[in-house]
Amino acid sequence: MAGATTGVDEIPAEVRERAATLARELEEHRFRYYVKDAPVVSDGEFDALMRELEAIEEEYPALRTPDSPTQKVGGTYSTDFASVDHLERLLSLDNAMNEEELDEWDDRLVRELGTGTFHYLCELKIDGLAINLLYENGHLVRALTRGDGRTGEDVTPNIRTIAEIPSRLRDDGGHDVPELVEIRGEVFFPIEKFDELNERLVAAGEKPFANPRNAAAGSLRQKDPRVTASRPLHMIVHGIGARRGFEIDCQSHAYERLHAWGLPTARHNKVVDTIEEVKEFVRYFGDHRNSVEHEIDGIVIKVDEIPIQGRLGATSKAPRWAIAFKYPPQEVNTKLLDIEVGVGRTGRVTPFAVMEPVTVAGSVVARATLHNQQVVKAKGVLIGDTIVLRKAGDVIPEILGPVADLRDGGEREFVMPTTCPECGTELRAMKEGDIDLRCPNARSCPAQLRERIFYLAGRKAFDIEALGYETAAALTRPAAGPSVLATEADLFDLTAEQLRDVQMWRKVNRKGAAEDEKELVPYFWSKATYDKEGNVKKPSEPKANTLKLIEQLEKAKTQPLWRVLTALCIRHVSDTTARAITGGFHDLDRLGAASEEEIAAVDGVGPIIAGAVVEWFAEDWHREIVDKWRTAGVRLAEEGADEEKPPGLLDGIVTVVTGTLAGYTRDSSKEALEQRGAKVTGSVSKKTDFVVVGDNPGSKYDKAVQLGLPILDDEGFAVLLADGAEAALAWVAERAG
Ligand code: IVH
Repeated sequence: MAGATTGVDEIPAEVRERAATLARELEEHRFRYYVKDAPVVSDGEFDALMRELEAIEEEYPALRTPDSPTQKVGGTYSTDFASVDHLERLLSLDNAMNEEELDEWDDRLVRELGTGTFHYLCELKIDGLAINLLYENGHLVRALTRGDGRTGEDVTPNIRTIAEIPSRLRDDGGHDVPELVEIRGEVFFPIEKFDELNERLVAAGEKPFANPRNAAAGSLRQKDPRVTASRPLHMIVHGIGARRGFEIDCQSHAYERLHAWGLPTARHNKVVDTIEEVKEFVRYFGDHRNSVEHEIDGIVIKVDEIPIQGRLGATSKAPRWAIAFKYPPQEVNTKLLDIEVGVGRTGRVTPFAVMEPVTVAGSVVARATLHNQQVVKAKGVLIGDTIVLRKAGDVIPEILGPVADLRDGGEREFVMPTTCPECGTELRAMKEGDIDLRCPNARSCPAQLRERIFYLAGRKAFDIEALGYETAAALTRPAAGPSVLATEADLFDLTAEQLRDVQMWRKVNRKGAAEDEKELVPYFWSKATYDKEGNVKKPSEPKANTLKLIEQLEKAKTQPLWRVLTALCIRHVSDTTARAITGGFHDLDRLGAASEEEIAAVDGVGPIIAGAVVEWFAEDWHREIVDKWRTAGVRLAEEGADEEKPPGLLDGIVTVVTGTLAGYTRDSSKEALEQRGAKVTGSVSKKTDFVVVGDNPGSKYDKAVQLGLPILDDEGFAVLLADGAEAALAWVAERAG
């Protein structure tokens, strides 16, 4: 019992240290077990550590403090959000809204420091939540939210659930971890995981989040850290606060050290010499905001050299050595006025949002698809809600979620209709368990017919320019008696006389009416003609656009077979699939008589497509379309098709095209490649031989760079088409050298 009366100071140092290590490890294991649900030791190992600590405390009771793991009952963790001062203030950033303002900031720096005396560190501005981590002797002792910059809220247990935030800094070998360091960073919620979270919340009867940033904040603001542990939060480091025993010359070098200690640093940071290069970085990520896993609201530019940062100092609010270049928002709030449903070409009934028009990412948006009733439910949006709408560049607008806190009780739930909004037929799921509902009246539902006509006239099918959406609608509208077209079977029998009778609608200002008093009036497709009372008069003879349509229909009859096949609107048969099918069947009649196995034997055609083709031809009214088109003179076979094809210049070469190429449309570049035997696919993989990149490329370009694939611009593309793959590879090598 020698130690019974021993004071802490008299206990041998190695015993004290061992007890402290055991206490820390036990605490860590307990946290992993109860909160993260991811233990790394067995119960037996845990018990052995606990017994060792108990034995030490038995011998030296002074070590048995109330916060020792031997005195605590495990499993009750709760975040208390206590207010705690940051050791060093968290400043905010001044903004530059455009390149001129960036230049003004740079001018001030250059005036003060002279050119060439410093470097610019460019970083992405992560749209998340600032957090300040305090590490003492390599151990994470506290995590605070930003708060007002001086005082934050203690969220340590929650932060400890984030897998990539180390509870202990890894000793990087060369440098000891410092005695003390504050690490600042941004906690974020990955965009890709956001829908999943809202779906889970709504299913559990909880309020969904409006956007990923709110999801990050809400996930950190949990009393029970096990809830935070269930959310896929991430963090990226972007600064250092107070420090002891940590000397740094440049911020970028400091990040390297932090990375070596196991902290999550950014992948995209770049140090550059000139403001022009800064602008290039700003422009590049302005175009590639969507290729990053988190939302970016700008670029942060910092003077890299720490002593110069010190010299420049800060205002009361923000440092002079850094600035945030802000991008225009990709997210806006608007009102969800209604949810309507549309009927597509294949009869699929899709709910879509009708919103108060808003400008987002450079265009006015008033509608956004909601895909199906399950998506509406999963997003948790109610009609009347204020919602967050996201439009990432040229990507389709998407509703992220409702701002649930702004609800006033007047909102109502969307109810999926049970009958077709256009023809009244009862809606059905194709198969049991299908989420999508369809209108089974494929032949005569005016909506389906209109969408089919519009599609078959499109660039990927017959390519009939004079047959746009309004015309397709007018030709299929049953309002005044039967529509001009009962089905697409009659398309090539249209006469100028029939077209003269087609009525359309348009918005006009009657004489003397105010600018915003537009009204819908009918007019004849060939020309608006009115009598003295302002009533519509039929034109006496066909006008120019009527004749243009007739002429273009005539020309369409000789389109290649794959275009005819695409125009038939068979499920799963896109233009690419149609090209594959006509590679094996050069005659529509032979295709119609073929079995599923025969069709599936064609390269690039699977059993699902083959099944859909056979099913399509089994329908009488479908075969009638083929028969009537044939009678009208549509070419249904490829001439000389059965002759052996000479080997193409690009046989077996797999290509991907992204962006706009000078002198080509999306289709014509594809055609040029396919004519030479190349395969054109939609996604970049290790199997891709060449990625052809035009102006404004998408994320495929980034993927190609990542995989180190040969990339061709307009010039390289011309080489590939003219001289083949080897010449194109030589062109790439020459450019790289
Ligand atoms: S540096 C003294 N770098 O933006 C410099 N901040 O609007 C302070 N943020 O409070 C910040 N990404 O939470 C910096 N790469 C980045 C950032 C970043 C996001 C946040 C940060 C800051 C806010 C200022």
